Amino acid sequence: MTVPTKTLPSGDELPAVGLGTWELHGETARESIDAALDAGYAHLDTAEGYGNEADVGEALAQYDREDLFLTSKVLPKNLAYESVVQACEASLDRLGTDYLDLYLVHWPNPTISLRETLDAMALLHEQGKVRNIGVSNFDAYRLSAARHVSDVPIAVNQIECHPGFYRPDLVEYCQENDVVVEAAAPLARMELFENEVVQDLADSYDKTPAQVILRWTVEKDVVVLPRSGSPEHVRDNGDLFDWELDAADHERLDDIDRHEPVYDTLTRDWADDTYGISP
Ligand SMILES: NC(=O)c1ccc[n+]([C@@H]2O[C@H](COP(=O)([O-])OP(=O)(O)OC[C@H]3O[C@@H](n4cnc5c(N)ncnc54)[C@H](OP(=O)(O)O)[C@@H]3O)[C@@H](O)[C@H]2O)c1
Repeated sequence: MTVPTKTLPSGDELPAVGLGTWELHGETARESIDAALDAGYAHLDTAEGYGNEADVGEALAQYDREDLFLTSKVLPKNLAYESVVQACEASLDRLGTDYLDLYLVHWPNPTISLRETLDAMALLHEQGKVRNIGVSNFDAYRLSAARHVSDVPIAVNQIECHPGFYRPDLVEYCQENDVVVEAAAPLARMELFENEVVQDLADSYDKTPAQVILRWTVEKDVVVLPRSGSPEHVRDNGDLFDWELDAADHERLDDIDRHEPVYDTLTRDWADDTYGISP
């Protein structure tokens, strides 16, 4: 399969599909990564919070690092200057590599200065440990602040994005400002597979519900990061680029938006381990 790319402000090329790895561990992670890379994916998405960087690193060790686009993320509890630097070095160590193609702030943390976080990201960039930087789960307000204070361009905003939860204003803001949008949970964690329109289009295009949903997202100029522990699903999910949805069918999928996230809910437990903000 041939995967198109998005050019980042650094000139680096970001493949339009990547393998999401949340909840993939051990042998399952290795088999999915092998299936992905053997099928022609060249992009993997992990995070210190996924607890699987060592597994991902082990799988990657068999491949040529320069052929891969590797993303990791720093947890919101680690956004103070020194913590960002240490968290990145620990991720590199676990992944068995000396650089990340992209390092993301996993979630905003309103108790830590964004300027401080991005200054640390700029240091990592200057040291060659991260080639591009970005954010995740940022709304337009926070992204705008990040863009103002960052010395290095914010290349990516990774946000929940699928036909059941699409934020056109946020996507437009990103794309107008040269920030590539990556879709987290692009399959809505399977919640849309039974949808009537998705099923109908899967039948008429002879594709899976997953492929229909992912193709819609790719047509929004958004990079997709489907996760699967099944090598067969991994291969299917990458088969997105030699067919297209008719405009009318694309619009039918626009209309299934129920404005409901599967994970990016506004009520967060700030005291849990992700945020580490003591009450
Ligand atoms: N930045 C963030 O805060 C954030 C948040 C969420 C996600 N993400 C990123 O986005 C990635 C994807 O999101 P996600 O892991 O939440 O879920 P997702 O990709 O929306 O959905 C994964 C689910 O879909 C199933 N699936 C995948 N392909 C399938 C296919 N072809 N046919 C049938 N079922 C299929 C998988 O089951 P099987 O294993 O059985 O295939 C799994 O249960 C994550 O792994 C992570 O890298 C980032």
